[in-house]
Amino acid sequence: MFTFERMKKIALITSGGDAPGMNACIRAVVRTAVYNDVEVFGFNKGYEGMIDNDFVKLESASVANILQRGGTILKSARSQRFFEPEFRQQAADNLRALGIDGLVAIGGDGTFRGANMLIEEQGIAVIGIPGTIDNDMFGTDFTIGYDTALNTVVEAVDKIRDTAASHNRLFLIEVMGKDAGFIALRSGIATGAEAILVPEVPTLMEELFNKLDHGRRSNKTSGIIIVAEGDDAGGAQVVAQKIKDRFDHFDIRVSILGHMQRGGNPSAMDRVLASRLGKGSVDALLEGKSNMMVGVINGELHFTEFDKAVKHHKSVKESLLNLAEILSI
Ligand code: F6P
Repeated sequence: MFTFERMKKIALITSGGDAPGMNACIRAVVRTAVYNDVEVFGFNKGYEGMIDNDFVKLESASVANILQRGGTILKSARSQRFFEPEFRQQAADNLRALGIDGLVAIGGDGTFRGANMLIEEQGIAVIGIPGTIDNDMFGTDFTIGYDTALNTVVEAVDKIRDTAASHNRLFLIEVMGKDAGFIALRSGIATGAEAILVPEVPTLMEELFNKLDHGRRSNKTSGIIIVAEGDDAGGAQVVAQKIKDRFDHFDIRVSILGHMQRGGNPSAMDRVLASRLGKGSVDALLEGKSNMMVGVINGELHFTEFDKAVKHHKSVKESLLNLAEILSI
């Protein structure tokens, strides 16, 4: 029978763009590990810290009072060096010198691509946890940070809507999502946006013009268009200019929400998700699993191999696009 030696020491990193709920996840990983007599070494700035051997030993008390805080106490980075083999070797050597044979990596697409290489070349066991506001990971219904970011966007758009209505203006609001329209789509539905532009669907300007014209003829006096930053039309500024060139009666303003979407205290949903995935990752390493991302599908923990989580881009729901279309007439 295949047996494996039970892990005694694990490393933990947050990598890629920070996301609200990462701290709640760090807490869950550390507390689950401590509960199981496993030591945790937190490396700062993701893979960068692994390369530079920049770590802190995390005890149960080290993660007290962080559950509710945005950002990540371990700091984060998008490491370019880690994509070079000699730096991966250096990182793996640092882990081995500490007696670490498992890693929990909280991050997005780039994080899991790095993890995949570490497993293949260095034989270090890795479990990934999806932490990104973009929600663009295959293998989970929701990523840590998405719910909070959505709520942040909705709050901002509601406020802008007040001004739009008071001044009879059309606002183009650009939200994050360089490759994915999940934030745009759900925030658009939640705020009753007149149109939602996402990278997954080619933007046809004529269609948008017709929609705006139809809205005006049905006595809409103001409007909100949500534009995902990665939309193929070129972003909110470009779309605004095209509308101005076509119609002279709209009083248009552009608002780019930017990084305020990434910060703030995590929502209750994100705290619970982060806690579940954090515990799930440690349990998985202790069961001898590796090379997988732990996510939640239909409310249950679900494991997806890294190369699938990385390669298969989740697509926005057709039914939600349709819903937004019908309700925005
Ligand atoms: O991946 C998350 C994300 O917030 C994207 O939506 C956005 O395009 C990107 O990060 C911005 O990254 P940075 O903070 O490195 O500019």
